Amino acid sequence: MQHNGPSPAVRRLLDSFSPRLAVEEARTPPALWYIDPEFFAWECYRLLCTWQPAARLSCLEKPGAYVAGRWLNLPYVVVRDEKGTLRALANVCRHHAAEVAVGTGCAAELVCPYHGWSYHLHGGLKRAPGLGRAAGFRVEEHALPPLHVECWGPWAWIHGGTPERSLREALQPLYLRLAGMEFESLTHVARREYELACNWKVFVDNYLDGGYHVASVHAGLAGGLDLSQYRSEIHERFSIQSCPAAAEHTPSGVEFAERLEGTACYAWIYPNFMINRYGPMMDTNWVVPLSVNRTRVVFDYFFAASHAADAAFVERSLAASHVVQMEDTAVCESVQRGLASGCYQQGPYAAAEAPMFAFHRLLWAELRGQSGV
Ligand SMILES: [Fe+2]
Repeated sequence: MQHNGPSPAVRRLLDSFSPRLAVEEARTPPALWYIDPEFFAWECYRLLCTWQPAARLSCLEKPGAYVAGRWLNLPYVVVRDEKGTLRALANVCRHHAAEVAVGTGCAAELVCPYHGWSYHLHGGLKRAPGLGRAAGFRVEEHALPPLHVECWGPWAWIHGGTPERSLREALQPLYLRLAGMEFESLTHVARREYELACNWKVFVDNYLDGGYHVASVHAGLAGGLDLSQYRSEIHERFSIQSCPAAAEHTPSGVEFAERLEGTACYAWIYPNFMINRYGPMMDTNWVVPLSVNRTRVVFDYFFAASHAADAAFVERSLAASHVVQMEDTAVCESVQRGLASGCYQQGPYAAAEAPMFAFHRLLWAELRGQSGV
């Protein structure tokens, strides 16, 4: 897809953000970044070319195993081919564009449900029923287009364009931090999906406020944390927020205390993926824009083997997480209404919100066309 760059209107919106000020002097992006459909369309075009955690490797162990999904307007399938090579393909039939693979599974070939075109696991076209004698038809010209794929942590990541840097290189310091917390060996136990009536950045901003909202929005969670020790580290393409568990939890923190031993680590990877590692658990949040004011957040829950088998513990943990998610959903949707009200343009950052400002700066550079991801 070719694009001539942001329109004059989008460029004006980008110019109204000042990325080079100190956080104490800077202003947040204007409300139109969150409510303007033209700005959203430009964002989607640029964000297509970012690394996305498309599938869990534990679903892709055997030859033939595949996971189909969608990132923005790109249907993809990640598949382990006959030789054991992991591949990512655009999941769009070369006949009439239907999605070929559906959901997850294991198959010897990928067959389009529309007219039965079948593809090898490496993406090459195998059979096109009834097309054998079509004038000039060449099987080798009808492969599913390959996408870049890279393994990092327990995920296969895809990139919708040409990545300038490998994920491994960009995230090495984060890998070392999480590897020390055994994040690759945990057991996946559940997935939950939430749809929020807000722009995707509202959810990301809320996550990156340096713990500022935790005391006022999450009374239960706050009761299990020592918020005076909340720390943020900002790296080039990710940030880490961390907070130790409270030495003594408050009554409101009782259901969180059993999950929050040691130090909780909240890692954000530009632009839209979070890895939360605490006690015997990890949850991840994949933030998927659906429209300018609708967002899906996919939560995956992983537990240490000792706890994954404890059904009651798992249930209590998912219930506690759901409470936090409902609290965040309420504030995110409230913020979106305020942004759309016409009564708000830009606001200041608190010093704690430096990770949020770093996100806005990265996005600004990306949307101006000044950064390669
Ligand atoms: Fe929150």
